Amino acid sequence: VELEAFVRGLPKAELHLHIEGSLEPELMFALARRNGVALPYDSVEAVRAAYAFSNLQDFLDIYYAGAGVLQTRQDFHDLAMAYFDRAAADGVRHAEIMFDPQTHTDRGVPFAEVIEGLLSAMAEAQARHGLSSALIMSFLRHLSQDAAFATLAMAEPWLDRIAAVGLDSSEVGHPPSKFAEVFAAAAAKGLRRVAHAGEEGPPAYVHEALDLLDVDRIDHGNRALEDAGLVARLVEQGMTLTVCPLSNHKLCVVGDLADHPLDRMLALGLKATVNSDDPAYFGGYVADNYLAVAKARSLSRADLVQLARNSFAGSFLPTDAIARHL
Ligand code: ADE
Ligand code: ZN
Repeated sequence: VELEAFVRGLPKAELHLHIEGSLEPELMFALARRNGVALPYDSVEAVRAAYAFSNLQDFLDIYYAGAGVLQTRQDFHDLAMAYFDRAAADGVRHAEIMFDPQTHTDRGVPFAEVIEGLLSAMAEAQARHGLSSALIMSFLRHLSQDAAFATLAMAEPWLDRIAAVGLDSSEVGHPPSKFAEVFAAAAAKGLRRVAHAGEEGPPAYVHEALDLLDVDRIDHGNRALEDAGLVARLVEQGMTLTVCPLSNHKLCVVGDLADHPLDRMLALGLKATVNSDDPAYFGGYVADNYLAVAKARSLSRADLVQLARNSFAGSFLPTDAIARHL
């Protein structure tokens, strides 16, 4: 079997996907027209040309601006449905999708519009593709912990539909310790916890995510490799890392995909997984991520199978469902 067919046919879970990061330029223009929003670009090509980033913040500035076209429940439904259709074609059987409520509520879009649009698409993905999904509500770490508490309060009527809270946006200068209390409050409400750590931030931020946020997964985690004691700790705990190869390359977390540490992570015994992060901005969905890193690092088919198994094992599916996927 050709590598591409093998990768697409491999049943997998996607565990690190920002739904706002799946907004393709074509849909951005369609929603801008539907909602009467002006865009600072005059063509889809001009939007794509703007996607040359030298770090995380470069990307975030453009990503938050693009999200401005998302206004109604139908917009969030259409956004998520476009993602689920692509994910299903990539062999994704289960997706745990992050959303950033503050990006929308701070512009006056009601929390209910955001989450109800996502939930209706999740139900349709299950019916259309047999693709199960879960929601991760992420707090923007460049904002205050009080703002995160306000978001958690807004989510109260939907807590039974939210699997976990997450932590994203500008990492350096906004350590996990800033959110210790709101993560404890989320845990007390029965929510799981994930956090971006060690993407641009130091290994100490990964230690903090473990110690102070009691996370179930680390999003990215690349810089944990700089700290042998931390690697041992992550291996010992069986901690899942949601690694995003094309993102790492586009945001200059790695200089060249040929230097990506994914196979080193596996060799060290880390539970690494492959994910797309913000596929519309980084040039590919999850199968493209598997393929790009498989070629750049000469991964074996056994490595690819291991990565896919890690994705189900590290998911928030119930244990019996995980067993059915493994
Ligand atoms: N928000 C969307 N993608 C992100 C990433 N890779 N890191 C931090 N915040 C993000
Ligand atoms: Zn991310």
